[in-house]
Amino acid sequence: MESSSTSTSPLSSGAASVEALRQALAAERRARQVAEVLHASHIALSRSLDPQVVTTTLLAHMAQLVPYDSACVMLLEGDEMLRVRATRGYEAFTDPAQVAALSINPAEDAFFQQLIARRRSFVVLDTSRTASWRPRPGLERVRNWFAVPLVAGEEVIGFFCADKTVPAFFTPEHVNTAELLAIPAAIALQNARLFAQVQAGQARLQALSERLVAVQEAERAHLARELHDEIGQMLTGLSLALTVGPRTSPETLRERMIQAQRQVNQLTAQVRALSLNLRPAMLDDLGLLPALFWFTRRYTDQTGIQVQLQHAGLDRPIPRAVASTAYRVVQEALTNVARHAGVDHARAQVWATDDMLAVQVVDEGRGFEANELPASDSLGLAGMAERVRLAGGTLTIETAPNAGTRILAELPLPTLEESDRCDH
Ligand SMILES: Nc1ncnc2c1ncn2[C@@H]1O[C@H](COP(=O)(O)OP(=O)(O)OP(=O)(O)O)[C@@H](O)[C@H]1O
Ligand SMILES: [Mg+2]
Repeated sequence: MESSSTSTSPLSSGAASVEALRQALAAERRARQVAEVLHASHIALSRSLDPQVVTTTLLAHMAQLVPYDSACVMLLEGDEMLRVRATRGYEAFTDPAQVAALSINPAEDAFFQQLIARRRSFVVLDTSRTASWRPRPGLERVRNWFAVPLVAGEEVIGFFCADKTVPAFFTPEHVNTAELLAIPAAIALQNARLFAQVQAGQARLQALSERLVAVQEAERAHLARELHDEIGQMLTGLSLALTVGPRTSPETLRERMIQAQRQVNQLTAQVRALSLNLRPAMLDDLGLLPALFWFTRRYTDQTGIQVQLQHAGLDRPIPRAVASTAYRVVQEALTNVARHAGVDHARAQVWATDDMLAVQVVDEGRGFEANELPASDSLGLAGMAERVRLAGGTLTIETAPNAGTRILAELPLPTLEESDRCDH
């Protein structure tokens, strides 16, 4: 019998098994290399809490396993924009700064919007045959491209994107390997973000407590001055008015009494203003609304800015802590109007519903860039946000340059039933 195929000859079957062995060996070597890089990458990534280090480490380790021409890491930032945070390999083709400057708004970019929604890797085998592919600045030469999402929890926090100048270069194995490396990178990036949040929170707290001490000192100095200059002088006057000698005529006595009475009235008003000015302790006695009326009247006297104070539903009990937070929000917001808005009138509104107290201060003045970080010595808005957060409420700041400012604080109230229960 004749053999019909050369492949069954002892010689060729030996060659085939050598080839199979070689392939198995190569696969084995490759698996070991992947495991080693993965291991090194886990260690390197878990050591850093700096997003810049994490992203560049990811690109460097990825280059050992996926032979890309160039690659980048894009991260979804707080403002929902996708920005390139690290690049590698672009210098051979273009100015890397061009790629680094790339920022994409997924809300307006159907391609990336889909990538985020799918939460899975996506490969463009040949960009020239892919209708949805949009050549971005610096990526015109790219023919084969893929993106692996960086997923933390259930959320896409960014992408690893790699490219090649020839079509259909990347294999499914390349993409799988990239996915393996993306896992520890996403965890490290999430840790870095949480760490940055905690640090920012600590710095804010520190700044707030320093400011609290400074404000307390300033208030004490102010109190001392008021007591010495104003109250002290009035008391001296009063004491003089009440000094009567054996030869003081009844008319003079009557005049002195009238004068003394006037001075006592002035003193009473002064002490009352002083105490309300220092802290709204009188909120307890007067309630939120009278305290706000008092404050806005005095504010107008001092600044010349007219305030329209509108209110609704304040005939229900308001816990002291909530009233005090609301008062402070109005106080700081109106102080900002006087200092920054450049207007001669503003509106303050306060209203209560069954379960919420809201205060709102609106001006039609200069406004500001809300996303810009305030100067480090500007703590008014940060303090306001902190107070509102501590009260379990939410603060909304609506503003834009030359479009006025609206500050709204919504503070939870115990429902009427709950406060009834507390009263009994
Ligand atoms: N109503 C407003 N109109 C225009 N700009 C405002 C208004 N409120 C705040 N700003 C801007 O926001 C910045 C931050 O306000 P913030 O109250 O935090 O600090 P500040 O008023 O500068 O200082 P302070 O710490 O004494 O309050 C201000 O410096 C100002 O530029
Ligand atoms: Mg301020």
